[in-house]
Amino acid sequence: MRIKWTEAQAVGIEKIDNQHELLFNSINDLVDAMNQGKGSEEIEKLFVFMENYTIEHFTDEEEYMEKYNYPEPERSTHIAAHEGFKDSFVELKEKMTSSGATRSMAVRVSSMLGSWWIAHINNIDKALGSYLKQHIKD
Ligand SMILES: [Fe+2]
Repeated sequence: MRIKWTEAQAVGIEKIDNQHELLFNSINDLVDAMNQGKGSEEIEKLFVFMENYTIEHFTDEEEYMEKYNYPEPERSTHIAAHEGFKDSFVELKEKMTSSGATRSMAVRVSSMLGSWWIAHINNIDKALGSYLKQHIKD
């Protein structure tokens, strides 16, 4: 199942929304490649891209929190969610390396990543977005 970024997931900060959309696309590319039985080298490349981009995106959000004094406890909760995701991502990557890029692994990757991102965006990122919209003065 492909995940699609729509306006319903907008947090209202263009940079963050663009990154979320690109992240959704990179998950789809990875899942498609797995379903199409692409070679491990290509799968690995897509995984590494997504991993690096995710980290870059988390860092950007955390820089916004710092720059605009995002309050506690929201800030720590949000950062802990990012850290938790990074840990489960490592686990997923290890499972994929040991079991190979099978179709069932593709289903697992798309549902795990898709549901995490949608829940994270709809709750935690939207809260950050509405705070930032009130505090960024261009
Ligand atoms: Fe976030």
